[in-house]
Amino acid sequence: MKVGFLHSLIRKEEKFLIDEFNKRNEIELVMIDDRKISFNLGKDVFDYDAVIERSINHSRALHALTLYEQGGVKCINSSKVATICGDKLLTSAALAKNGIPQPEVRIAFTETSAIEAMEDIGYPVVLKPAVGSWGRLLAKINDRDAAEAILEHKTVLGTYHHSIFYIQKYVEKDGRDIRSFVVGGQCIAAIYRESPHWITNTARGAKAVNCPINNEIAEMSVQAANAVGGGVVAVDLFETKNGYEVNEVNYTMEFKNSIDTTGVNIPGHIVDYVIQTAKGA
Ligand SMILES: Nc1ncnc2c1ncn2[C@@H]1O[C@H](COP(=O)(O)OP(=O)(O)O)[C@@H](O)[C@H]1O
Ligand SMILES: [Mg+2]
Repeated sequence: MKVGFLHSLIRKEEKFLIDEFNKRNEIELVMIDDRKISFNLGKDVFDYDAVIERSINHSRALHALTLYEQGGVKCINSSKVATICGDKLLTSAALAKNGIPQPEVRIAFTETSAIEAMEDIGYPVVLKPAVGSWGRLLAKINDRDAAEAILEHKTVLGTYHHSIFYIQKYVEKDGRDIRSFVVGGQCIAAIYRESPHWITNTARGAKAVNCPINNEIAEMSVQAANAVGGGVVAVDLFETKNGYEVNEVNYTMEFKNSIDTTGVNIPGHIVDYVIQTAKGA
């Protein structure tokens, strides 16, 4: 079985995955560096049984996945999952369509309509780039003065992407959120991400602590994964007094801080799923 491994820099996650693939004798792993490939549209013939996508760059991942799929290759994740998870607006739309609880959210395209949406929700609100990760360019906005300043900066200094205003109600979450891992329709592990800062990404210094999976976490995580198209994803959950809410769903998920913390062989599960998908199971 031939598996293509689409990558940029090899981070710890990729090392873990490569080690895991190398343990499986049936697999020939072909490294595909997204900095070196070029596609010959309509002429390329791919002989991969599956491609696993581990690019750091969302646009490269999305476009490469689209072209591999067009060439008949099964991809993990699919271009559909990459499209939806790569865009918080599309993720929220998919969650809403499937009736999955999420923080109150508004989308607006101008400064005036964005302010109106924020005041309708009530401060504090969180303004996020629709496409982005690692907690970058997130703004917690506590009042109208801050709202006006940030919206003006985004409009004047940003690209047009920055004027798609994704606005969420700020959720009080007592110093932590939950990150759960879903592989092939199964919630395999979860961590709490604890931080004194309101942004709890581990990339921003939050501490990872094992989170025992209860039925509610498992069910909501799997539902969220299914809503974006399944595959291998990590779900951000908030604990609220009304139960859990899904904040976002991530593809090309990072898990290096979660293997020892949870005791779960996350890359092992991913490789099993890739093999299963390649076999068409
Ligand atoms: N509406 C919100 N209320 C409270 N905290 C939030 C909210 N949105 C995001 N955060 C915090 O910021 C972190 C990063 O936000 P997230 O939407 O997951 O974006 P990213 O794609 O950058 O990870 C979350 O894990 C959480 O700690
Ligand atoms: Mg996140």
